[in-house]
Amino acid sequence: MTRKASAEACANIALIKYWGKRDAERHLPCNGSISLALADLRTVTTVAIDPSLTADTLALDGHPASAAELGRLGKVLRPLRERAGETACVRVESVNYFPTAAGLASSAAGFAALALAAAAAYDLTLDEPELSRLARIGSGSACRSVPGGWAEWHAGTDPAGLDSFATRLAPPDHWDLRVMVGLVATGPKAVGSGAGMAGTVATSPFYAGWLQGVAEDLPVARAAILARDFDTLGEAAERSCLRMHGSMLGAVPPLLYWQPATIAVMQAVWQWRQEGLPCFFTIDAGPNVKVFCPAAVAADVERRMKFIPGVTGVRASGPGQGVALSKAHLF
Ligand code: PMV
Repeated sequence: MTRKASAEACANIALIKYWGKRDAERHLPCNGSISLALADLRTVTTVAIDPSLTADTLALDGHPASAAELGRLGKVLRPLRERAGETACVRVESVNYFPTAAGLASSAAGFAALALAAAAAYDLTLDEPELSRLARIGSGSACRSVPGGWAEWHAGTDPAGLDSFATRLAPPDHWDLRVMVGLVATGPKAVGSGAGMAGTVATSPFYAGWLQGVAEDLPVARAAILARDFDTLGEAAERSCLRMHGSMLGAVPPLLYWQPATIAVMQAVWQWRQEGLPCFFTIDAGPNVKVFCPAAVAADVERRMKFIPGVTGVRASGPGQGVALSKAHLF
């Protein structure tokens, strides 16, 4: 007999970034972060408990997962198995509805969906903080995809990470902003975020300045979101993005995720703002640029972005929900 559950989660884009871990094994961050979930960048994950299996299996977009990916799966499943008193292995399939490993945080949506689907398959009911902590074990930023909407990940201080999870600052319909994901490259990146963070924390003299800046920006961004203050949020978000990337440039060896088209979009956004078009950018650990704007000007921003040489596509999204069970199983 197999027991099966599916869940769906959205990717999230950080406005105040997470960069650097105080505990790499548990994905405990050095700083808090704030994000928006994206309705149109979704992952669906199905988990089936199958006693006939001798090892867990994982397929990502139809391809067998690597040993490293299976290792991360095992880390998320372990606490659930212990709690459920189960030893049976699982078959997991996950489908992303956007390009993977290109700075679009596909792992965030994937691990949030995995946490809920696996808990349901093992017949466990976890509350939101528990699910968020579990998703965090797979990928740090995944904890923010659990509450969805406008979310804040509290860094916490507990060595075991009990106070390090995300809560919702505001629901998705609190503020109808649009995010235009400007695709600059869709291939996997050369340096993953985990290695990039570790190198920055260990070697960048700018890292202390990064942490000081985040402490100042978190309350500013939180208040701006609650007050729907676009200009203040945009200033804080661009500052957070640029300082995060600045801290990487100071690492040894230096880390630079940007491509020429990344910079072209950034400069275009500054130009458009001068012309009176409300928009701001943010960039994760990859070359793609996400441009935030009010829904009323989204079509204009999207059209302009498509004209920038090197931008191969634009994926528009509105605010997304938190993780939810889905009735549509993948297999
Ligand atoms: O949790 P990870 O390994 O996907 O790291 C995410 C790091 C950034 O995307 C660069 C910033 C963030 O807060 O999402």
